[in-house]
Amino acid sequence: MTVTSAAPTVPVGALFSQTHREFESWYSRLWGPLGALAASVSQPREGERVLDACCGSGASAVPAARAVGPTGRVDAVDMADALLEQGRAEADRQGLAHLRFHRGDATTWHADTPYDLVQCCYGVFFFPDMDAGTRHLVDLLRPGGRIAVSTWVGGGMDSMVRRAREAASAVRPLPPLPATPDPRTRVNSADGLAAWLRSFGLVDVEVHRVDYRVPMLGDDAWMFVLGAAPRRFVLGMDEQQLGRVRDRLHADLAAAGHSHLDASSLIAVGVRPE
Ligand SMILES: C[S@@+](CC[C@H](N)C(=O)[O-])C[C@H]1O[C@@H](n2cnc3c(N)ncnc32)[C@H](O)[C@@H]1O
Repeated sequence: MTVTSAAPTVPVGALFSQTHREFESWYSRLWGPLGALAASVSQPREGERVLDACCGSGASAVPAARAVGPTGRVDAVDMADALLEQGRAEADRQGLAHLRFHRGDATTWHADTPYDLVQCCYGVFFFPDMDAGTRHLVDLLRPGGRIAVSTWVGGGMDSMVRRAREAASAVRPLPPLPATPDPRTRVNSADGLAAWLRSFGLVDVEVHRVDYRVPMLGDDAWMFVLGAAPRRFVLGMDEQQLGRVRDRLHADLAAAGHSHLDASSLIAVGVRPE
């Protein structure tokens, strides 16, 4: 094995900003449909005030804005500038002036008025403290308000991330995984996610499982790695190293017969008691 450099680390917002081209290439098959499904569970209503935390380029914020209409308001908050720019362009294109994209940290975001609905799709596990960050989001709700959270089902997306990590670490060593349990494992089953949401005092918790598998053709798997969190494994690699990771990943997926990205998800909603 050739060791050329250690893997650099960047803040999560900068990481996702770097993903913007490849993130967009997966948008219509992955983030867009899953965001629309999240909004069909959270059911934003006309005139409501909504916070979309970790909004990316607006996959769930845009359908929420369409549902609440111009008498409502959607604050879409993320730390990835390039994704926020894509979201703003889409809001302009659709004439959604009441959808505002803000650069900010969802775990410290504040608003003058409590929200009727908070949405957070595939974001909570990036919080430095998943419980404290989510507690903050719950505290932004009015009594009776709803929070909707989307996560990945265990054994789906995590296996793609593991394969990407293995391919990258074969080309350049990565730091060992933390000894503490991955917080994702607490929210990657319907029962686990429901229990976790109830631990915030939420009531009427519902969890919907969505089986969602997308064919991966051509360079799709590699575009996924570069367009989402696994990009962190290859940061700073040169073209030759990147090519080796891509080839290893494709060979591994082919050998395992993995022709689909398993993005099966859990979409949960709970209510802050009156
Ligand atoms: C997997 S992406 C999902 C984006 C979007 N919700 C979607 O479903 O398309 C996760 C997003 O969370 C954002 N993020 C992570 N931690 C955050 C934080 N503390 N505050 C705001 N955004 C955060 C990242 O920048 C990234 O855009």
